Amino acid sequence: MKRREFLKGSSATLAYISFFGLSPLSAKEQNLLGFKAIPISTQDAVIVPDGYEVKPLISFGDVLFSDAMPFNEKKNINQATIANATRVFGDNNDGMSLFPLDNNRYILAVNNEYINPELIFADNGKNMDSHKVAYEQNSLGVSIFEIRQEKDGFRVVLDSPYNRRITAHTPMQISGVAKGHKSMQTQADKKGELVLGTLNNCANGQTPWGTYLTCEENFDGFFGASDADYKFTESQKRYGIGVKSNYGWELDPRFDISKNPNEPNRFGWIVEIDPYNPNSIPIKRTALGRFKHENIEIVLSREGYVVAYMGDDEANEFLYKFVSKEKFDSKNPQKNKNLLEDGVLYVARIQGENLSGEGEWIALSYGQNGLDSKNGFHSQADILINARLAASIVGATPMDRPEWIAADPKGEFIYATLTNNKKRAIPNGANPREKNMYGQIIRWRPNRKNHLSTKFKWDIFLLAGNPMQYPNDLRKGTSNITSENMFNSPDGLKFDKFGRLWIQSDGDYSNKGDYAGMGNNQMLCANPITGEVKRFLTAPIASEVTGIAFSQDYKTMFVGIQHPGEKLAPSHYPDGGDSTPRSTIVQITKKDGGVIGS
Ligand code: FEO
Ligand code: CA
Ligand code: CA
Ligand code: CA
Repeated sequence: MKRREFLKGSSATLAYISFFGLSPLSAKEQNLLGFKAIPISTQDAVIVPDGYEVKPLISFGDVLFSDAMPFNEKKNINQATIANATRVFGDNNDGMSLFPLDNNRYILAVNNEYINPELIFADNGKNMDSHKVAYEQNSLGVSIFEIRQEKDGFRVVLDSPYNRRITAHTPMQISGVAKGHKSMQTQADKKGELVLGTLNNCANGQTPWGTYLTCEENFDGFFGASDADYKFTESQKRYGIGVKSNYGWELDPRFDISKNPNEPNRFGWIVEIDPYNPNSIPIKRTALGRFKHENIEIVLSREGYVVAYMGDDEANEFLYKFVSKEKFDSKNPQKNKNLLEDGVLYVARIQGENLSGEGEWIALSYGQNGLDSKNGFHSQADILINARLAASIVGATPMDRPEWIAADPKGEFIYATLTNNKKRAIPNGANPREKNMYGQIIRWRPNRKNHLSTKFKWDIFLLAGNPMQYPNDLRKGTSNITSENMFNSPDGLKFDKFGRLWIQSDGDYSNKGDYAGMGNNQMLCANPITGEVKRFLTAPIASEVTGIAFSQDYKTMFVGIQHPGEKLAPSHYPDGGDSTPRSTIVQITKKDGGVIGS
């Protein structure tokens, strides 16, 4: 599709022109997507285009150490299996990053977001007990391990000194303004400086100074109250905490808020981990605010400040930006390690219509924009711990569930997935559909192309939709969505260095009704210049596609397949037969040895 055709057919036309002008496209820009698109699938398999190969790298329960017990279906949960869970790959892999060691060796850091009790326990998790809770607490968090490229692809290096599991019990420092605040103090940690563990590690980020960032998302699901009459605060309610947890963890007093009301305040942060030092203590970076963090995308401003874009994945929550107080200095690695300690957190207010417009970043700083004691904020720590409440006070724009954010290779445009929002009652410019079933991708460019600017222009890169079911209204999607490439609920999002935009879906996989013709979840690839979108991968039954990383030569792509067979759907991926389905990272190569997507 030529750029002009895309523009003509899309209601995003005006913003698109004002952003880019209409210079002729080079052949390279036109032919960025060199693979043959694949059809939808309802099969229990990972399918990639002709000329590509895919195979598993690691699945839930695979050993990281040679003395660990291999995956054992419906295992008997006892002290030995609980301890073993810290020596194997965790469940529900999500965001991940590669850290090079040399040409063919990397450290892979991977989030293990949560657990699927219906799959891992003989009773499908119906009767939770303290053993099962302890097993779950050891089965999530982060897995860090070495991988090495051999003739037939990458393999996990067992017993590498880098191999490490981070769980719901791993000690972590609290850093930044909220460190030591009274809302961060508990019986076990009277100073409010040291937390045990990380929870619901969704997607990720990677810093220019070589650390891994893991993002705590739906932490509320792990907390409950044994006291059914517990009076929830406004903040606890806003973060979704209720009497009953999703996982039965209130059996552990630390996760029972009637006993430990401040414990949830210690989750919902960005956590920084040094993967090169297996003994390093992870650090919770409170300067980046507390919400349901999806991922974090870092760019350096022209002057060298660290600018981090972040989304809060919940219906009608917000987009955020952080700007560091100090500058990145490539000559001073030691100093860079603390760049996320201090800075200014902003939230987005977005105006416009016809799928384009302008926006601004509003500082969440104590004493500004009504963030003071009149509105219940007594310090900057109060603001960071209760970032959602603060953002509402300054008039942030409620979004359709912000998921991943990705910067293009030049660091000029920032793209973000807004996955869907069935609770959307009042449409606005960037979220133009009531009861949004399909989701959209927004992009923005800061004014003066400077990420320190508090103003930006935006447009909608695509509205996902179903042009077959709803040809006559916005539910059909933008003109770059067709019967050939339709999908719902964009989630994972990342650019490769050549400018291809990879889009992963986490949506309704019923293939019926509003979602007919979309099949299983999938991964697509977009040309951001022309707007073209092609389907590259389809996922197994009842899984989502989430997590993406490339080898340095971009000839191997790692992709996460999360929760195949969730809710006891009929998947046996990846082992087949009658096996229990397992979340898996796959590696994809091109048979001719070329760059993925070329
Ligand atoms: Fe863990 Fe919003 O996805
Ligand atoms: Ca996600
Ligand atoms: Ca999602
Ligand atoms: Ca997920």
